[in-house]
Amino acid sequence: MLLSPPGILSLYIITLFSFFPATTSQSLPTSTNTTTPCFCTTYPQIAPAISACPSLTLHNIHAPAHSPIALTSLLPGTIITFSGTTTFGYTPDSQFRPIQISGSSVSIRGAPGSVIDGGGEMYWDGEGSNGGSAKPGQFMKVQITNHSTMRDLYIRNYPSHGINLAGVKDSIIQNIVLNNSLGDAPNNRSNGLSAAHNSDGFNIGNSANLVLRDSKVWNQDDCVVVSDSSNVTVSGMFCSGSHGLSIAGGGSGTGHDISNIV
Ligand SMILES: *[C@@H]1O[C@H](CO)[C@@H](O)[C@H](O)[C@H]1NC(C)=O
Ligand SMILES: *[C@@H]1O[C@H](CO)[C@@H](O)[C@H](O)[C@H]1NC(C)=O
Ligand SMILES: *[C@@H]1O[C@H](CO)[C@@H](O)[C@H](O)[C@H]1NC(C)=O
Ligand SMILES: *[C@@H]1O[C@H](CO)[C@@H](O)[C@H](O)[C@H]1NC(C)=O
Ligand SMILES: *[C@@H]1O[C@H](CO)[C@@H](O)[C@H](O)[C@H]1NC(C)=O
Repeated sequence: MLLSPPGILSLYIITLFSFFPATTSQSLPTSTNTTTPCFCTTYPQIAPAISACPSLTLHNIHAPAHSPIALTSLLPGTIITFSGTTTFGYTPDSQFRPIQISGSSVSIRGAPGSVIDGGGEMYWDGEGSNGGSAKPGQFMKVQITNHSTMRDLYIRNYPSHGINLAGVKDSIIQNIVLNNSLGDAPNNRSNGLSAAHNSDGFNIGNSANLVLRDSKVWNQDDCVVVSDSSNVTVSGMFCSGSHGLSIAGGGSGTGHDISNIV
């Protein structure tokens, strides 16, 4: 009986001591978690998440006008998942790139059923980038390197050109759908022509050791254009409504090196 109170007291003290370091070491991740969600559902959450999260999800994001989804300078190894439906505000600016991605050893992917909708109907006027209203010139600018992958994205209704793979090195792009079928029909601004025009699928430039495969493009111009690149393998593509594969020595530089393009 007499020994009980000290026994309880010492047990209490031991508990306190063993508890204290545990809560202290756990408080850091917990507070990061609260202040920086890695599951982003609003546009302003994206910038803090890309500097804090090794893996982040962009769920039902609406990017306001003139606000790109800028996934640039990603931490090496970052995993980004597009989920739900991604949409964009009206930005009539030919220099605007709605989605920008750069990083080393990164993984970009779409969750099952996810859709990235470029809102092309807001821009299409039968003229594409050749005239008419100003439209974002390239929908996505991608500059990934060092065993990066981009896969399983479903993109529809992009305003002008689709995906610009610029300076991609040692990486794989696969199972991408670009569906601009909605722009086949004329609208009330296109003078009887297809509403979407000159809507290239993939423009590959200045890239090396790139595999683009198992992807589908429904559009109104080139399916895949390759210029100033080496060791680019394009395979398993389905292209509808386009001229197919173009290999061009674009740009003014000398010594275009295009090789091993399958
Ligand atoms: C938040 O905690 C969960 C579960 O512990 C973890 O999976 C997630 O990566 C954490 N997010 C951040 C920002 O630390
Ligand atoms: C490429 O990624 C590996 C890890 O996957 C890393 O060790 C290496 O430094 C990276 N190389 C460059 C040039 O970033
Ligand atoms: C492409 O888009 C059109 C028009 O929005 C739609 O009817 C069609 O089902 C889509 N095709 C695929 C393969 O998703
Ligand atoms: C053209 O069609 C769009 C969408 O149906 C409509 O909002 C717009 O008012 C029309 N413009 C004209 C000039 O008819
Ligand atoms: C060509 O690219 C493939 C795929 O990225 C790579 O495995 C291969 O090593 C490259 N070949 C050369 C000669 O760099």
